[in-house]
Amino acid sequence: MTDLSTTYMGLELKSPLIAGSSGITDNQEKILRLEQYGTGAVVLKSLFEEEIILEKMSQLGRMSSERSLYPEAIDFYEFQDGPKESTYEYLELITGLKKKCTMPVIASINCMTASQWTYFPTELETAGAAGIELNLFLLPSDLRRTLDEYEGTYFQIINEVLKQVKIPVALKISYYFSNLGTMIKRFSESGVAGLVLFNRFYSPDFDVDTFEITSGNILSSPGDLAISLRWIAIMAERVSCDLAASTGIHDSSAVIKQLLAGAKAVQIASILYKNGIEYIERMNVELKSWMEKHNFSSIEQFRGKMSQSKSSDPAAYERVQFIKNFRGYTPQET
Ligand SMILES: Cc1cc2nc3c(=O)[nH]c(=O)nc-3n(C[C@H](O)[C@H](O)[C@H](O)COP(=O)(O)O)c2cc1C
Repeated sequence: MTDLSTTYMGLELKSPLIAGSSGITDNQEKILRLEQYGTGAVVLKSLFEEEIILEKMSQLGRMSSERSLYPEAIDFYEFQDGPKESTYEYLELITGLKKKCTMPVIASINCMTASQWTYFPTELETAGAAGIELNLFLLPSDLRRTLDEYEGTYFQIINEVLKQVKIPVALKISYYFSNLGTMIKRFSESGVAGLVLFNRFYSPDFDVDTFEITSGNILSSPGDLAISLRWIAIMAERVSCDLAASTGIHDSSAVIKQLLAGAKAVQIASILYKNGIEYIERMNVELKSWMEKHNFSSIEQFRGKMSQSKSSDPAAYERVQFIKNFRGYTPQET
């Protein structure tokens, strides 16, 4: 019997495929379909900390100034025409899913500070969330803030949330750190049960005819796999918590690569937008047949087999220049 089950953040997953936080995971109907097609767990669409704070204050008008809102939250409120009952609905979604789903449902909070909203994780826990993922990214563009201030904020938020709940907490990060390996290790020792490497963000683009700011590609492409694959492989045997891979996982081969690198699970979003929720089933079938072909009956038999620590060529993971290896590389004739 080929067994696709794994554990992540201490949770039992029947497949390593997690539906990542996105519009695919924002309502019960889609989440039940995800479960039907064999998804291991879901991470709900993120709530913004500002939504939590504003709802606690109950009226948008009581905010003294919009300047306290960060750019994503301003977009959110312009779009939503003020705060609705979104935190209530979020808790209701979790409670409803708890009754109907067997797979773990992980709540997600998009946060940037360690104050005012941090009572809310307790409510997520009470509603029945299996875990909480903190979607935390501070774009290091404020030249007045020091490295210590930036990095310190991450740990303040983690500590504050860990104080509130007993359910496992994961941190989803970017790779914008000046000392990435060390930061991943420090985060893994902070008490979180999982680290998601890496989130993918909205990027501005330009229209060169209208001189307007436009949106870069919303969805990832398969080539985006490379960064997380390298870092999962480098860090897999060095961290004190589980790793989940995210970004650019578009087929079963990418899933297999991330498991070989050492990920406990993978998170997928763009490919579900492109191919539909049912694509999960195909990825599971293909993962299973690859395991059968290689005589693996469980994920643990091959997970981490190609991590840097287990590799016969560990330097390959740290190679960054093309010069030596690709000296003879010539463009293909057209
Ligand atoms: C339309 C869209 C909405 C997303 N919303 C969220 C979100 O609310 N919270 C979050 O942590 N990540 C969000 N993400 C990021 C995804 O969870 C995922 O980390 C990222 O898209 C990279 O994975 P992929 O290559 O499989 O798409 C969103 C992605 C997309 C495409």
